[in-house]
Amino acid sequence: LSIPSIGVFDSGIGGLTVVKELFASIPHARIVYFGDTARLPYGTKSVATVRRYAEEDTELLLQHNVGLIVVACNTVSAVALDVVERLAGTVPVIGMIEPAAHEAVQVTQSGKIGIIGTQATIASGAYESAIASAAAAAGKTVSTYAQACPLFVPLAEEGWQDHEVARLAAKTYLMSLVEAGIDTLILGCTHYPVLADVIQETVGAKVHLINSGAVAARQVHAAHLAQTVNDADHLFMVSDLPSRFRTLGERFLGRSLPTMHEVVFKEAWILRRSA
Ligand code: DGL
Repeated sequence: LSIPSIGVFDSGIGGLTVVKELFASIPHARIVYFGDTARLPYGTKSVATVRRYAEEDTELLLQHNVGLIVVACNTVSAVALDVVERLAGTVPVIGMIEPAAHEAVQVTQSGKIGIIGTQATIASGAYESAIASAAAAAGKTVSTYAQACPLFVPLAEEGWQDHEVARLAAKTYLMSLVEAGIDTLILGCTHYPVLADVIQETVGAKVHLINSGAVAARQVHAAHLAQTVNDADHLFMVSDLPSRFRTLGERFLGRSLPTMHEVVFKEAWILRRSA
């Protein structure tokens, strides 16, 4: 199909939580999704590697006539958004960080904002910078408390969102944020909306959770790409294990997925450095 579409990519399956929000807000838009299931996770990899993957993922989406790119992966949004923007040229790019940071600054009362994400996202400090800019623009004083929660990713993929292990992991990761007195918590990773209940239970009902994908999806206005599509018009591509993606993906997405396509990136090995 050569109609303009919303290109969405992620390291794998987690980006479907963002697609779920897009389906809810713009049901008539055609989605071209790529999940890099052969190379996930991104959140534990180096900045250089994630930047290279982001470049290749963007090239794939651009081959499919996308009119807008949503970088569903928080890790890519944190360390490689500029790479995507450079390649995309005039195609607009929406990342996960800036919209969520802006929303957090708007909703916080105490000015204490928690941030959770992968190791790479937290190490990048991208949320802190975006929050500082948003706070300066709003004339607000805020402080941030960041915590990497790497075990949340496999817990969500395992379907253990309601399991004792998830409760224990949430308590261990989030206690220091609770003690710091946060009133707002950014779910800065594609998988965390799946664990929203256990996270909310752990931090208490008064803490406002911000789903970065949902906030970013609100920036994709219907005017961008109004189309009428059938379910079969969407294009879902992965780089490995399409049937596992379907099984897990239908849980993340909350509905059935169309035919899955497996794509292969043909790369050549070159020596980068020796240590
Ligand atoms: N999609 C990643 C993110 O949002 C989480 C999974 C991964 O580490 O690849 O940061």
